[in-house]
Amino acid sequence: MATFRTVRGQEEAKRAATGAVRVALLLMAGGALAVILAAGAKHNKSLRASTNATSSTPCNSTFDPTHYVVRGSCKTYHKVCFDQGHIVSYDSAFSPSNATSLSIPEIKIDDMQYAWGGAEDNGDKYRRAYFHYKPLPFRYAGQLEESPDLQHPVFSDCTPVVMWSMWIHNYGECLSFLASRMWQMATDGMLSNGTLLSIGTPAGERLRGFLPFMLQPFTVHPVLSFAELSSRTAAPRENHRSSHPYGRCWKTAHLCAFHRSDFVAGLFGAGQAIYEHYKTQLREPPPGAVFDTEDEHMLKVIIDHRNGSTRNLLNWQELVHECNSFAGWTLPPNSFIKRVQCRHISLGNDPLINLAAVRPADVLVAVHGSGCNNWFSMKEGSSLIELRPFQFAKNARDWVNRYFPAHAGHIKHKVHWYGLDIEDPALSQPSQFEQDHMGADLKIYARDRHTTLPFSALRRMLEHVAASGRSRDEYLKLRQAQQYYFELLPGGELKPVT
Ligand SMILES: *[C@@H]1O[C@H](CO)[C@@H](O)[C@H](O)[C@H]1NC(C)=O
Ligand SMILES: *[C@@H]1O[C@H](CO)[C@@H](O)[C@H](O)[C@H]1NC(C)=O
Ligand SMILES: *[C@@H]1O[C@H](CO)[C@@H](O)[C@H](O)[C@H]1NC(C)=O
Ligand SMILES: *[C@@H]1O[C@H](CO)[C@@H](O)[C@H](O)[C@H]1NC(C)=O
Ligand SMILES: *[C@@H]1O[C@H](CO)[C@@H](O)[C@H](O)[C@H]1NC(C)=O
Repeated sequence: MATFRTVRGQEEAKRAATGAVRVALLLMAGGALAVILAAGAKHNKSLRASTNATSSTPCNSTFDPTHYVVRGSCKTYHKVCFDQGHIVSYDSAFSPSNATSLSIPEIKIDDMQYAWGGAEDNGDKYRRAYFHYKPLPFRYAGQLEESPDLQHPVFSDCTPVVMWSMWIHNYGECLSFLASRMWQMATDGMLSNGTLLSIGTPAGERLRGFLPFMLQPFTVHPVLSFAELSSRTAAPRENHRSSHPYGRCWKTAHLCAFHRSDFVAGLFGAGQAIYEHYKTQLREPPPGAVFDTEDEHMLKVIIDHRNGSTRNLLNWQELVHECNSFAGWTLPPNSFIKRVQCRHISLGNDPLINLAAVRPADVLVAVHGSGCNNWFSMKEGSSLIELRPFQFAKNARDWVNRYFPAHAGHIKHKVHWYGLDIEDPALSQPSQFEQDHMGADLKIYARDRHTTLPFSALRRMLEHVAASGRSRDEYLKLRQAQQYYFELLPGGELKPVT
């Protein structure tokens, strides 16, 4: 089971990330009105590709399917077209009329799961919300091609990489399954930014807005769903503007399926690449999220209070007020942190605001969920204090700890993880979903509860962070001393989780 499947503000994200790209795409499409090849192939004529015409925008693609982060997950096809979600091969090695032909190698996607994409946020909290992809259809080209571009294919030099991934509607998984892989390959020179990246969605759905957002740093082309890439609206036709300019037939195409294997070691790198890519386009966060100082002696804390149907931090106003007025911080004399300032935001509506809000902060305080992924885009040495609603960690510790605390080690503690499991029922309220019995899974109910955080507990957590003073070595000492991950018990005791 996957966690932090929350998808917040995807409509906003989609607009933010792809608006400009779509405009560019339409402009390109206008310029790439294709050479039209005669329709209506004769039945007795063998299928032969034209090589003297181009119907596509050039791409300068480099993608090495043997790189270790994708090895075993990708298959490479030559002379292949995509048509309405189908893979149509023209490689004679697979032709039924070739006496020694082989069957087309297929990639298996029907063992991959996703949570329902119909919800405004995370669809997994509904009953029967889990689905499997249907098998990907492969066939050899024949006489019955309906579209002119498949009757007379012109194979493009552009090389698409089409990727299917588990939990495709969930931000955190997409970051660790897809963006972190692309970052590692680009870093190692095995993926050029001229490569066309495309994502297989379940049964023709469009992409969540966060997918183009997180993959755009790795390609100069728009990130397209496989449905859009393979659509007949993209087929060149006379007096017709193609929905994208790349064509649907390729000299080489790579298809990849990432089943259960995320690539968490790339999360920090991907988060940093995303920040670098968008840093000149960031949008002004709301005034309550903006620090009024760059003073390095100030510990800058941003509290994500969320603002949705689940997992809200209920008393954030009080926390911000107390944090900014409290005078009794216990900071060790050797720490260069002398003061603390708290700001607040509801992360998720606009990724360009999220990045702008978290990047200046030293500490992100957030309830377990996709908002925590902003941690990977913070400056090295920054911290996440991850709050877990009542009984979530108790009932599902393996589940919840498989994510951020485990990632922390894989990214070599470039950013620091602190955890607080709320184990006091007085600090918890059921979500509306739990009250209405909308779900079926007690662990998901627990994950989605609203939380009250006493200032005294926040204060002690922040004092630990301040003591480590953005230093990895000091943070590792705190880990050694088990002063980074606690349960908050009734009465206010912070008990180290060992
Ligand atoms: C392709 O080449 C053939 C033969 O050289 C020619 O008859 C045909 O017009 C060309 N097609 C295009 C679209 O340029
Ligand atoms: C294509 O990419 C390769 C390697 O990334 C580079 O050496 C070459 O100059 C590029 N060509 C064009 C036309 O951009
Ligand atoms: C027939 O298929 C084999 C693969 O088994 C391939 O090596 C060969 O080139 C194909 N023959 C023709 C005529 O395309
Ligand atoms: C794409 O890669 C080329 C070659 O590495 C680089 O010169 C160019 O700036 C990159 N373009 C973008 C938009 O990142
Ligand atoms: C919470 O969301 C609602 C509806 O989207 C909005 O009207 C309200 O202003 C938000 N509140 C905060 C504190 O962001």
